[in-house]
Amino acid sequence: MNQTATNLLSKIRSRDATIGIVGLGYVGLPLAIAFADKGFAVLGFDVDERKVDAIGRGESYIKHLDGGRLESVVSAGKLTATTDFARLAEPDAVLICVPTPLTPQREPEMRYVDGTAREIAKRLRPGQLVILESTTYPGTTDELVRGILEASGLTCGDSFFLAFSPEREDPGNPDYGTTTIPKVIGGVDPVSGDLAEALYAQAISRTVRVSSARTAEATKLTENIFRAVNIALVNELKIVYDRMGIDVWEVLDAADTKPFGFMRFSPGPGWGGHCIPLDPFYLAWKAREHGLNTKFIELAGEVNIRMPQWVIEKLQLALNDHGKAVKGSRVLVLGLAYKKDIDDPRESPAFELIDALLALGAEVSYHDPHIPEAPSMRSWPDLPPMTSQPLTADLLAATDAVLIATNHTAVDYDLVATHAPLIIDTRGVYRERRENVVKA
Ligand SMILES: NC(=O)c1ccc[n+]([C@@H]2O[C@H](COP(=O)([O-])OP(=O)(O)OC[C@H]3O[C@@H](n4cnc5c(N)ncnc54)[C@H](O)[C@@H]3O)[C@@H](O)[C@H]2O)c1
Repeated sequence: MNQTATNLLSKIRSRDATIGIVGLGYVGLPLAIAFADKGFAVLGFDVDERKVDAIGRGESYIKHLDGGRLESVVSAGKLTATTDFARLAEPDAVLICVPTPLTPQREPEMRYVDGTAREIAKRLRPGQLVILESTTYPGTTDELVRGILEASGLTCGDSFFLAFSPEREDPGNPDYGTTTIPKVIGGVDPVSGDLAEALYAQAISRTVRVSSARTAEATKLTENIFRAVNIALVNELKIVYDRMGIDVWEVLDAADTKPFGFMRFSPGPGWGGHCIPLDPFYLAWKAREHGLNTKFIELAGEVNIRMPQWVIEKLQLALNDHGKAVKGSRVLVLGLAYKKDIDDPRESPAFELIDALLALGAEVSYHDPHIPEAPSMRSWPDLPPMTSQPLTADLLAATDAVLIATNHTAVDYDLVATHAPLIIDTRGVYRERRENVVKA
């Protein structure tokens, strides 16, 4: 380790290092609080002024995040935020937590990572450690980010340091949070890896060092591909068992009693969130560069993307049994978020369902205790503005069908079952047979 690295290491160990976090969303904000909590000075960067202002007031804009912790680190002066990227010269370590979506052609959209790396490169100074946290294809840190940063004239592993460490946040999970989920770390070079590991060890209970940034990037993708493929598998089984008159939920409850060799995944109306529907395609894209096709990933995409349409068909048939067409029927969609008990609507299949129902001429409303107003969505630009309807006996009785897209705990499902004439349950909320419930 040279003197530049040694100086940075001692600043990290004494917690005198200033930490910059670029992108203060679902990943960046909890990370900022985690380091500030440990006594580091944290400077957050975001292009969204509303987020920066909210942090200035000590107010959380992420529902499942403990607002008290944010308030206390802000009032202690440990966490500040800015839209002024000239201040990127200040932090000793810069953690990049910006979005990595897909283009409409389902290819990696690297402009946020690329743009952030360029902002950092403009002010890069000797002794800075840069860590990419955004989920991405293997080689991003080593090829794309390193190239941009070294164009500054500084050399990686000598005058500045660079690593990748994926975020493994599971929003809303009460058992695991930012500081208790083991952190995988891979440096572009060994010294960069050592420095990144030393930094995370200050705030996170367990670090897992791997040999390279590429390995760390591949680790994150592997975890999410595993989920995507298994979600597709149970969704496919659901369709097959449904045709056979077998309840997939009963099968899964029983299979789950096997103490080894089985891991439960739940079927649903599709796949959602910022990770599972997107990340696998980062690997699929990179694999093509190596002349390879990732068949499992493509197949998982095919199955999961088809799910909302299968649910709509079940709804159509169920309404038909009631002597009704979808056109003109009043359908209440229950749950907009992509999974239960969170307020994150990104990529939620609920929007696909609403879009399909509107296209068929249904009158659609929704209830979600965590999302009072449906945000405008990039993938569904034509959806009308909607607000969450209070879930009352009268509303339920006035619908033709309730479509459970997300099984939030806060919903009174007994009330729903008592008053709704027809329920399409995509989440296994109702395990016993009920006259008015169709599992889909
Ligand atoms: N949300 C999760 O549960 C989760 C879990 C693991 C990994 N990830 C990954 O972490 C990364 C961030 O995801 P997220 O969920 O926090 O996204 P997010 O949309 O919640 O937050 C991203 C933030 O970056 C800001 N931003 C956009 N462009 C910027 C720029 N050029 N400079 C500075 N800030 C900019 C946005 O305003 C936003 O506040 C993604 O790569 C994602 O795949 C997310």
